[in-house]
Amino acid sequence: MPFAHITGWGMYVPEPILTNDDISKLVDTNDQWIRERTGIRERHIARENEFPSTMGVEAAIKALQVANLAPTDLDLIICTSSSPEYIFPATACIIQDQIGATKAGAFDLQAACTGFIFATNMGAQAIRSGSVKNVLIVGTEVLSRFVNWKDRNTCILFGDGAGAFVLQASEEPGGVMSAVMHSDGSGADSLIIPAGGSHHPATEATLREGRHFMQMDGKEVFRFATRVMGRAVTEALEQVKMTTDDVQWIIPHQANYRIIETAAKHLKMPLDKFVINVERYGNTSTASIPIATVEALQASRIKPKDKIVFVGFGGGLTWGAMVVEWTGPLPVKKHVHPAQYRLFARLRSFVRRAIRFIEGFFSRKEL
Ligand code: ACO
Repeated sequence: MPFAHITGWGMYVPEPILTNDDISKLVDTNDQWIRERTGIRERHIARENEFPSTMGVEAAIKALQVANLAPTDLDLIICTSSSPEYIFPATACIIQDQIGATKAGAFDLQAACTGFIFATNMGAQAIRSGSVKNVLIVGTEVLSRFVNWKDRNTCILFGDGAGAFVLQASEEPGGVMSAVMHSDGSGADSLIIPAGGSHHPATEATLREGRHFMQMDGKEVFRFATRVMGRAVTEALEQVKMTTDDVQWIIPHQANYRIIETAAKHLKMPLDKFVINVERYGNTSTASIPIATVEALQASRIKPKDKIVFVGFGGGLTWGAMVVEWTGPLPVKKHVHPAQYRLFARLRSFVRRAIRFIEGFFSRKEL
């Protein structure tokens, strides 16, 4: 049975930065309150012409570059987002088209902020089953468009960004070692965008009442998160007969510094074993774990053979954890340049759209 290794990683955050002081001009809050209650100092906000797909593409190309894998080598793309481009089509399909991953099946997976752990596990399981070899996982968010900028309970928390992993099959032991995935739909109301779906389709009234924006019971989510994070880590470690002593790094979902601090206490682990960057990005939902991983790698904190636990929680409610033995890129003979495929991808996409238009034109004439 092949092992699923993380061989590529990439991140992208939009340039514009929104500081706590900027937010204090929009709602009744202040920098000190936000820093003390959340640990967040600033977050990045997408420009008007940036979308989950465009940011996901940037992160994906970087991840493919690290893995030295051509987009055409991908068998599967799983995108996970709490702020997808559309209800359908899947953001994964738009990314597939834009990077030129001509052979890949692509779909979206929705598990709110736990999405990246669920998606990475699904990709790894597809590799373990032998049905695919190369998988791209993308977590990408423009949550700033689903946040009510008049609601101080939520607008201080979230930021935009994208992160990606490449998973590859190898006979060499290592990579994804175990994972646990949990859900509790009885807490669905705690974190919800109530309108815009088929339960409450968008109407003038839903817009007027701001029900197309995220709503959150912050205290409830806080209690839930602190309860499940430590438990999920322990469970994932037990599956591979390991304890926290065997672990070099915990990379948690970056929602709130205090939640991470409480998880560290539950696990009786020093906080310096946790990768934390929530202060500069806020909560980027599905993108927060890959962004934290990329930054830890760039700072040379993660070394090959390190045991890492990813742990996350979010709307649904969902939570999960994953134990990984870090590998890094697999050895390769020839070098590929994934970014160069983009131009061809755009050209091919344009030609396909043109052909579809011409086919439609003639078939209308035939009818
Ligand atoms: N600025 C100033 N005061 C504020 C603000 C603000 N931005 N927000 C709330 N307050 C006030 C409240 O009105 C309240 O005032 P009161 O005592 O007069 O009623 C007081 O501050 C305390 O409010 P709490 O809600 O008790 O504040 P708390 O310490 O719980 O912090 C927070 C709120 C930061 C939202 C916290 O509950 C939290 O982080 N929860 C988890 C949220 C989370 O992680 N969500 C993402 C999940 S992942 C996903 O799937 C998207």
